[in-house]
Order: sequence, then C-alpha cells, then structure tokens
Amino acid sequence: MSEHVRVLLTEKEVDDRIQAIGDQINKDYAGKQVHLICVLKGGSFFLCELAKRITVPVSLDFMYVSSYGNSTQSSGVIKIVKDLDDPITDKDVLVVEDIVDSGRTLSYLLEMLRERNPKSLRLCTLLDKPERRVVEVKVDYTGFQIPDEFVVGYGLDYDQRYRNLPYIGVIEFEE
Ligand code: IMP
Ligand code: MG
Repeated sequence: MSEHVRVLLTEKEVDDRIQAIGDQINKDYAGKQVHLICVLKGGSFFLCELAKRITVPVSLDFMYVSSYGNSTQSSGVIKIVKDLDDPITDKDVLVVEDIVDSGRTLSYLLEMLRERNPKSLRLCTLLDKPERRVVEVKVDYTGFQIPDEFVVGYGLDYDQRYRNLPYIGVIEFEE
C-alpha cells in the first residue's frame, strides 16, 4: 500500500492565518506578557511561527504529554512525559496545540494547568475537527476548522513522519 498526501491548506494559507492569529493575540494581550506553552511534539511548528509574530513580551515553556489511548483514538488519560520547567502561577498562559480532535487530551491538560493557578489560561489551536468532539473544550483561537480527515504536516504526524511538511495535507492510502 502506498501513501499519498493531498494538500488541504497551502503553506501560504497557513502562514497568513497564523499572522492573523498573532495580530489578534497582540491586541488581546496588549500591556501583558504572554506565557506560551507548547504541547510537544505536534505544537512545535505552530508555536515557532506564531511566537515570531507576537510583539508583546513572550516567554515559552514546553510540555510533552502522551495519551494512553491507541494511535488513532486518545483515552483522555494522559501521562506527563515532560512537565513544564517553570511554575505558571499568576502568568497569562496560552496553550499552543496542533489540533483538537475528541478534545480529551486538551480538557485533561487544561484542567491540570488550571490547578496551578495561572492568572489566565487560554487555548490556541492550529486545527480543530469539531465533528469529532467528545469532550467539551473552550478554544480561544483557532487557525482552521477542518473536516473529519486524518491530516499531517506543520507538526502533525502519521507514525512520526510528515511533521516537517510546510503545509497541511490529508493522508490517503492507495493499493
Ligand atoms: P484528542 O485528545 O482526541 O483531541 O487528540 C488530540 C491529539 O491527537 C492531537 O494532539 C494529535 O496528536 C492527535 N491527532 C488528532 N487528529 C489528528 C490528525 O488528523 N493527524 C495527526 N494527529 C492527530
Ligand atoms: Mg498533539
């Protein structure tokens, strides 16, 4: 079986949208410092591109969580593989994710972060698949809402590959 990636969102479309989100964040966080939390590994490409477009003071931290579910469905119970380096108490925290699918991972993660008493806690995701939602998650900034298809690129992987594609594509399998 061979794999083929069909372009869903071009590099230009993604970059333009990230600029627009950056502009909005600059307005919303005017006079504040925003503490970006990147959810590894998928959120890393989006985080870099977004952070470059933010003009208010930025600090960064990284978290690596893994779901106990199988590769295509998360269970909602997540294991912290790498925790944040710094406390988030009294910080204006913005979590940066690649995609919200069932919502299980993010709802669990946000709940955990909320217990650490940040001053504010918001969520920014590059992609959202609303049709797939099982658990309610409040998303503050969304790049694109996409249909229920498995996508790769811009940080998103299929079996750890394709994260480096500069665009978002749908993976298709051919006999
Ligand atoms: P959730 O807990 O179901 O919302 O799962 C979110 C995680 O599943 C994301 O952070 C991705 O790692 C992964 N995921 C969900 N949909 C896709 C996809 O279309 N392509 C690649 N990874 C995906
Ligand atoms: Mg992810």
